[in-house]
Amino acid sequence: MCGIVGFTGRENALPVLIKGLYSLEYRGYDSAGIAAFTKEGLRVVKTVGRIANLEAKIKEEHEDLTCTCGIGHTRWATHGGPSDRNSHPHLGGSDGKIAVVHNGIIENYKELRERLEAHGYVFQSETDTETVAHLVDYLHTGKQEDLAQTVLAAVSRLRGSYALGVVSMDNPEEIVAARRDNPLVIGLGNGENMIASDITAIIGRTKDYIILDDNEVAIVRPDSVVVMNEFGDRVEKKVQTVTWDMSAAEKGGYEHFMIKEIMEQPKAVAATVHPRVQNDSIVFEENGLTDDRLRDIENIHIIGCGSALHAGMVGKRVIESMCRIRCAAEVASEFRYENPIIGKKDLCIVISQSGETADTLAAMRLAKQAGAFTIAIVNVVSSTIAREADGVLYTWAGPEIAVATTKAYSAQLSALYLISVRIARVRGLISIGDERALSAELQRLPDCIEETLQCKKTMQRIATLYANRSSVFFLGRGLDYAAALEASLKLKEISYVHSEAYAAGELKHGTISLIEEGTLVVALATQPALFEKTVSNIREVVSRGAAVVLVTTDDFTGDESVCQHIVRLPKCLSEFSASLSIIPLQLLAYYIAVERSCDVDKPRNLAKSVTVE
Ligand code: G6P
Repeated sequence: MCGIVGFTGRENALPVLIKGLYSLEYRGYDSAGIAAFTKEGLRVVKTVGRIANLEAKIKEEHEDLTCTCGIGHTRWATHGGPSDRNSHPHLGGSDGKIAVVHNGIIENYKELRERLEAHGYVFQSETDTETVAHLVDYLHTGKQEDLAQTVLAAVSRLRGSYALGVVSMDNPEEIVAARRDNPLVIGLGNGENMIASDITAIIGRTKDYIILDDNEVAIVRPDSVVVMNEFGDRVEKKVQTVTWDMSAAEKGGYEHFMIKEIMEQPKAVAATVHPRVQNDSIVFEENGLTDDRLRDIENIHIIGCGSALHAGMVGKRVIESMCRIRCAAEVASEFRYENPIIGKKDLCIVISQSGETADTLAAMRLAKQAGAFTIAIVNVVSSTIAREADGVLYTWAGPEIAVATTKAYSAQLSALYLISVRIARVRGLISIGDERALSAELQRLPDCIEETLQCKKTMQRIATLYANRSSVFFLGRGLDYAAALEASLKLKEISYVHSEAYAAGELKHGTISLIEEGTLVVALATQPALFEKTVSNIREVVSRGAAVVLVTTDDFTGDESVCQHIVRLPKCLSEFSASLSIIPLQLLAYYIAVERSCDVDKPRNLAKSVTVE
């Protein structure tokens, strides 16, 4: 949520900032801006709209602009709508000596704003961020303290969450960065250094970086980076190295990141599964999921938001059926405030692609505090959730850029299957032979997904037929219901078509009144034991005029004549079927969005990394 970048070095910072902002655009894209040091002072250029608008504005109105130090921001509006005025950077003081970019929410901004206004500060925007800019100016003006000390003093007065980049005219080569509950990395170059919300923004310049921890403040100059804790004491930080290169974060000839990432799913699942299957059994890296712990589990809570939650809903069904342990998939933002019952022998599986989602992080901290063991299924290495969980099971999906997740979701499912098989084996619910067979099925999954992807053309054709529908319903039972929820989310987030997922047997209790002539219903039926039941539900909607696309397996024996289109999935173990049934429906959503000329990779109002509540 919001992207921050900063550069200080010897070369022109402007192209570095713009390129960095483009790679952070997935975090929010309703407005953007930069602040650059020039001989005359701090120059701020900002505009509503995408980074491309900012780039055009700089070209048209600030052709002469060059600088060796500057900060930039791409915004996802929280306080104050998207507008030029509300765009970051925000200036502090009447002389605009201080500029600030911010990701997060300052909860006590109203109270601070009133106090600063009483001291004569005039606010230009409706944002919470401008409060920080004026506060830094207020604490800085007339004092001997350097900027970092001032920022330390300022953040101690803030409630809420922030990643900040602050510059001051007094130190034109210096960026001060601070963080609490929002990600911030510092890229270490040769004679140049950067700050950024995410490593995608620094990887074009350097692969070495350090992660700023909560309550730390960093002083970033071309030849040095100094990090301090909240008491102002210097902290030694571990330098990390990015293990993937730029090409992993580029489109590689595809029209959109989303379709590239859909096609990368076999690779993402293989990379997640293969290292953990050795000699036909599941072997985890050191992550705390010891046999003793798995044997003792009393309840399992799976926590996530959005697609991660949907992965958890699949996981819940697989785990309960395979391991016979009570397992609940919980909405992180609800879990954290509902005084949940968490036992010391409970396992809490936290799922997050970004590893930074604010609600998921807070829910995890709560579970940890209550004494549960927390294991994080995370895609971004060294993200906050990965670092704070008791153990991590990384999904090795590689960088995911499209806002709507596909390959990370698939990798999350496979991580959940791994956990499930391991628990079932340790608790003696399956034999060595069963584990061997399940491991083989898991290893086959990437090939099954590859084969399923061959329905691409079919789904494109179906999409052209139904792209003009105003409403779509997804139906399924059990695992198919969990997959239907994800399919429905994919469609609505990228194509803006209203859609709902219903447990197939539940539709008739009200929602069926919405079915009319021509309504598109997508039915999922991958569980042989439930084929007949789902077919009955399909008949209910067909007799009210619905057109039906059925996603099912090769074994489907029901009456096909009731459906307009049938998509058959390759054979796989029915417990793992959600990994296949989602593939045609990701493609359906993608092609409907393309057909409707939507901005597939950056849907309106969304952001990939949601670091605010
Ligand atoms: C946002 C994204 C979703 C994602 C959810 C959870 O809402 O748009 O695609 O599923 O956040 O993100 P996480 O990084 O925690 O998986």
